[in-house]
Amino acid sequence: MTNFLSLADVNDLDALIQSGRDAKANPFADQHLGKNKTIGLLFFNSSLRTRLSTQKAAQNLGMQTMVMNVGQDSWGLEMEEGVLMNGDKAEHVREAAAVIGRYCDIIGIRAFAGLQDRVSDYQEQVMHQFAKYAGVPIVNLESATRHPLQSLADCITIEEAKLTARPKVVLTWLPHFKPLPQAVGNSFAEWMNARANAGKVDFVITNPEGYDLAPEFVGNARIIHNREEAFAGADFIYGKNWSSYEQYGKVLTMDPSWAVTMDDMQRTNNGKFMHCLPVRRNLKVSDAVLDSPQSLVIEQAANREWSAQAVLKEILKGM
Ligand code: CP
Repeated sequence: MTNFLSLADVNDLDALIQSGRDAKANPFADQHLGKNKTIGLLFFNSSLRTRLSTQKAAQNLGMQTMVMNVGQDSWGLEMEEGVLMNGDKAEHVREAAAVIGRYCDIIGIRAFAGLQDRVSDYQEQVMHQFAKYAGVPIVNLESATRHPLQSLADCITIEEAKLTARPKVVLTWLPHFKPLPQAVGNSFAEWMNARANAGKVDFVITNPEGYDLAPEFVGNARIIHNREEAFAGADFIYGKNWSSYEQYGKVLTMDPSWAVTMDDMQRTNNGKFMHCLPVRRNLKVSDAVLDSPQSLVIEQAANREWSAQAVLKEILKGM
């Protein structure tokens, strides 16, 4: 593996999931791989889990870590080519990426969607500009359209918790008053479709009308707009809010009946609740669900360390 920008960079998903589980069982087995290597983690947006779990994973592998909040700790970065830089961005990505690539052996980047321009967001400009100019592997720490380290942690969590060979996994939209990116929902759908194509899960998406994800992410998943029908018999309920893809970046409804409650969970096959966190309690999901034994959210977040470790290990092995 060179870059880890999306599922397309994964050769063997089963092996990568197993590698994460192996790291969890034996975190320090591969410390030699990262000796004298440095990872730089660049955040254009806030983070708790990604920031800490990726640092921890790198340290488990013997790496040194450097973390920077872009635009706060550093200069603002211009991504467009050939522009007159007379605005608020003092440095171009061409120099910034090249320089950071001299200090770091791997660069992780978090850069969310702006939600103003769908074409621009879905071009993944920040990831591609860094991949073009850094000269070292790039790891996606959540981009405009994807959050693959989260999706790998989600796959690990489902593998650990599943009670049947081919569980029913339901991605459900949750209400929120702010427009949020589609990245987590897109990415989860992309990875679950891969698992479904391999016969590992039965994957369903439920969301209100107007909230269908981009067709390339929906893939072969069944979209069921009736959430009660979708929840029936589910083994895993994966909650997430996203703004509309069709009316790009818009909040079309805040219908509170889409928040997950224990009544909803009772329609499932004693299903588990998952969410990538952070989550707004009682807006998106009830206290009762989050505090119940059916909630996997803490274990899911804990597995972010092992998903990051599996990916970094794969990159380090190729150096
Ligand atoms: N799930 C996730 O990526 O969490 P953070 O935004 O806190 O990193």
